[in-house]
Amino acid sequence: MNRSVTDFLATEARLGTYNYEPIGVVVSRGEGVFVWDTEGNRYLDCLSAYSAVNQGHCHPKILAAMVQQAGRLTLTSRAFHNDQLAPFYEELAQLTGSHKVLPMNSGAEAVESAIKSVRKWGYVIKGVPDGEAEIIVCANNFHGRTLGIVGFSTDPETRKHFGPFAPGFKIIAFGDADALEAAITPNTVAFLVEPIQGEAGVIIPPAGYFARVRELCTAHDVMLILDEIQTGLGRTGKLLAEQHEGIEADVTLLGKALSGGFYPVSAVLSNNDVLGTLRPGQHGSTFGGNPLACAVARAALRVLVEEGMIENAAVQGVRFLDGLKKIRANTVREVRGRGLMLAVELHPEAGRARRYCEALQARGLLAKDTHEHTIRIAPPLVITGDQVDWALEQIDATLKQDLS
Ligand SMILES: Cc1ncc(COP(=O)(O)O)c(C=O)c1O
Repeated sequence: MNRSVTDFLATEARLGTYNYEPIGVVVSRGEGVFVWDTEGNRYLDCLSAYSAVNQGHCHPKILAAMVQQAGRLTLTSRAFHNDQLAPFYEELAQLTGSHKVLPMNSGAEAVESAIKSVRKWGYVIKGVPDGEAEIIVCANNFHGRTLGIVGFSTDPETRKHFGPFAPGFKIIAFGDADALEAAITPNTVAFLVEPIQGEAGVIIPPAGYFARVRELCTAHDVMLILDEIQTGLGRTGKLLAEQHEGIEADVTLLGKALSGGFYPVSAVLSNNDVLGTLRPGQHGSTFGGNPLACAVARAALRVLVEEGMIENAAVQGVRFLDGLKKIRANTVREVRGRGLMLAVELHPEAGRARRYCEALQARGLLAKDTHEHTIRIAPPLVITGDQVDWALEQIDATLKQDLS
């Protein structure tokens, strides 16, 4: 007998850790932009697993690469070489114009790895006195959940009762280049920032901000680390969000869609200096760079480019944003977006964004709230114009309801 939704939820509540509050849908199958629940209902996925499924659910070519590699070789650890790692390095470095690649698994691991690397670079190359390296980060950042990372979060819920935390981080306002200039000291080794703050609610910085950030980092020999774990790999309508700003980071972090949602694969990309300072024994991961991950990531990158997903994200992103802007509903405070990274911020009086996400679920569209009042919309990059229009109809009707 099929398990009921109530049973799935009750079992999770009984045995699982209560560290998530999912929308009450139990998904059992996915294909392209759609997922199906255990009762056979179809939904348009407008979250894409927080932008990990940019290529669409269960992309057949990524699936084929995964199945083929899983039957040949899955893990050697880095104690030995494997025949997928070198081609993965080549293809990723060539696509992104990077000199060096450090493969890891989760996004948070890529962030931690970048922090270690720029600190080492600071001591060995820049000449910062040992133990004095400083990294500047932004208020309302989201870079993951490890202890090192939550220590420089400004969200009380994220930090509370998890300390003590590591020193060496300075927090400044996002989008304020003067604040960056004022915060830089001779011991500053890096500025770690998201090109668009995703979890904060798709916050796009003012025009010209990143050009000035780039200038300041270059002038003061500070490594600019762009966390493109969410914004990268086509999400904003360009391969990397930095391309909208006409700049190049010194260190770029990728994760999520690097595997098309099949497997945790992340990477630190950098110039020769930063990753060039690491030596055997100083950093690593049993699974990082494993042949299964590399084969999956190679296929995920290939379909992203060959199937025009980045260009489609740009086109459909404009259509989606224009459509959202045309919605005349008293509940809406602001609409934001770049490419298919979109958000609708509700007026506080409209009630919790979660209620609207639940109403969207009833209409066959899955989206997720972030903070109290923002609905985040990020469909797979394979979405068509007709599907965007259908999504807009559902969103329009939902936002015209009073769910306060
Ligand atoms: C910008 C950014 N950095 C890092 C992370 C952490 O990635 P992971 O959940 O794979 O550790 C996320 C996840 O949402 C993210 O959005």
